[in-house]
Amino acid sequence: MKYVMTEAVCAEGMALLDNGEQIYVAHDANPANYQEEMKDADALIVRAAPAKIVSREVMEHASQLKVIGRTGVGYDSVDVAAATALGIPVVITPGANNRAVAEHTLTMMLALSKNLVEAQVETAKGNWAVRDAHKQFELYGKKAGIIGLGRIGRDVASLCTGIGMKVAGYDPFLTKEQIEGMGYEYFADAEQLMEQCDVISIHVPLTPETENMVRKEQFQKMKKTAIIINCSRGGIINEADLIEALNSGEIAGAGLDVFVGEELKPGNPLLTAQNLVFSPHSAAQTREAVINMATMCVNGCKAVCQGEKWPYVADPKVYEHPKWSGK
Ligand SMILES: NC(=O)c1ccc[n+]([C@@H]2O[C@H](COP(=O)([O-])OP(=O)(O)OC[C@H]3O[C@@H](n4cnc5c(N)ncnc54)[C@H](O)[C@@H]3O)[C@@H](O)[C@H]2O)c1
Repeated sequence: MKYVMTEAVCAEGMALLDNGEQIYVAHDANPANYQEEMKDADALIVRAAPAKIVSREVMEHASQLKVIGRTGVGYDSVDVAAATALGIPVVITPGANNRAVAEHTLTMMLALSKNLVEAQVETAKGNWAVRDAHKQFELYGKKAGIIGLGRIGRDVASLCTGIGMKVAGYDPFLTKEQIEGMGYEYFADAEQLMEQCDVISIHVPLTPETENMVRKEQFQKMKKTAIIINCSRGGIINEADLIEALNSGEIAGAGLDVFVGEELKPGNPLLTAQNLVFSPHSAAQTREAVINMATMCVNGCKAVCQGEKWPYVADPKVYEHPKWSGK
């Protein structure tokens, strides 16, 4: 079997491919740079990559392609509808990284509420007076509004509860009873949650419904003391509107792990926005999660290549395709 990878997975994952599998590592997420290698590929493993980069065209050029693996749960980088139409399962790794992302989210909440990043940068410059910036606050007793109460959102909610925060949730795929049953305040409307919460944290997939879900009009309604965190996908918060909201003091701070177009390039105005902490899409890059994601993804791809209907796929309807149903 031939595996093409946009980037190598960790050693533990690579070790699962030591039975004569041919491996090509592109060191690049752009298919233009590995298209040739896809002609006889059986599997494509995609690491972090921009939205929809693995298009129908890429799949159609790979006539032997049996599976696409994602080392994570977000699959916006792959045209899943096209993959399903072609009978190609998109393997994902639910449960492999939720704790890592939840801890990262809490870290951002704590860093923002203690003005940690600015304090370090200014202290290093000799500005001891930054201790009187009056930007610090306690999370205890504040209300965290979680948008998307899936695996990661629930872990974040539980960590917030653990430090004495109140938790509210918005998730249109869960009922009032389900959210209240978890012990959280139910919001039927995302805007109302954003208006009323002190800390807003986003844990939804990037879809046409969630793209630009937080933009100028939502920032205008938020508390001036509010902070917002996005450790899900770039594009869910409108970046230009966020910069304006931060620089004008419309909100108190933001934490971002994810960006439109994936990589934050030099010169991007986010780099100099006020009261913003950011990380390079590294929320799921803990030692533990990296191993979990790589091994789960490789095992899933191997199983699909051997004709097994691996359960952890982006769209289980793929198994209704004649390639799988035998119809
Ligand atoms: N920063 C990172 O490194 C990193 C790592 C893992 C996942 N992620 C992102 O986090 C997202 C969530 O991951 P997860 O494992 O919790 O996924 P999940 O599928 O378990 O949960 C997603 C939740 O979002 C809800 N949802 C869907 N559309 C919604 C909408 N319009 N409004 C509100 N809620 C909505 C779903 O009902 C579900 O409960 C992923 O889609 C991925 O993009 C980022």
